[in-house]
Amino acid sequence: MSGGAGTPVAELAGNPRTGEHGALSCGHPVAFSPAALERFEALLTRYPTKQAALLPTLWIAQEEFGWISREAVDYVASLLDLAPAFVWGVVTFYTMYNRAPVGKHLIQVCTSISCHLAGAEKVYHECRRKLGDLKPGETSLDGKYTVIEVECLAQCDKAPAVMVNGDDYERITLENLDSFLEKLK
Ligand code: FES
Repeated sequence: MSGGAGTPVAELAGNPRTGEHGALSCGHPVAFSPAALERFEALLTRYPTKQAALLPTLWIAQEEFGWISREAVDYVASLLDLAPAFVWGVVTFYTMYNRAPVGKHLIQVCTSISCHLAGAEKVYHECRRKLGDLKPGETSLDGKYTVIEVECLAQCDKAPAVMVNGDDYERITLENLDSFLEKLK
């Protein structure tokens, strides 16, 4: 079962859920950089309505802020003239949006059927163990790694498949796990 990067939200001390839509607060206002605003304006020219640009706008927000906080939800809603609750509903539908802070390397281990049959569960558990006995979705103390379990990454012929941030890695096994993790340092 996919945990998603939002799994540990309720466990984060000092970061209470706030507002009507339940998103976690980052504690300060957020806004796009001039470069991100430029990308956002270019996006709008490619979609028939502002609402249609919601998914890629959230993607820009995640690239800018690292995760989708309550403030990011409100900011994106204001940019697109949408209700914050609607934006949050979309954020929670897709596991690709991080609903809590994540490490520099977000390691997403696919455990769907092909990867499962190729030993992905063991890779997932061993990966978390090697990085400090991390719980699912937990971030290492140095802030470098978050390990989560995800559904099919469309790399079934290269199982077990892993994605780190936006990059694909294929055939990650117990045998090559150390060298894989070494490359991330
Ligand atoms: S089942 Fe893992 S990539 Fe498809």
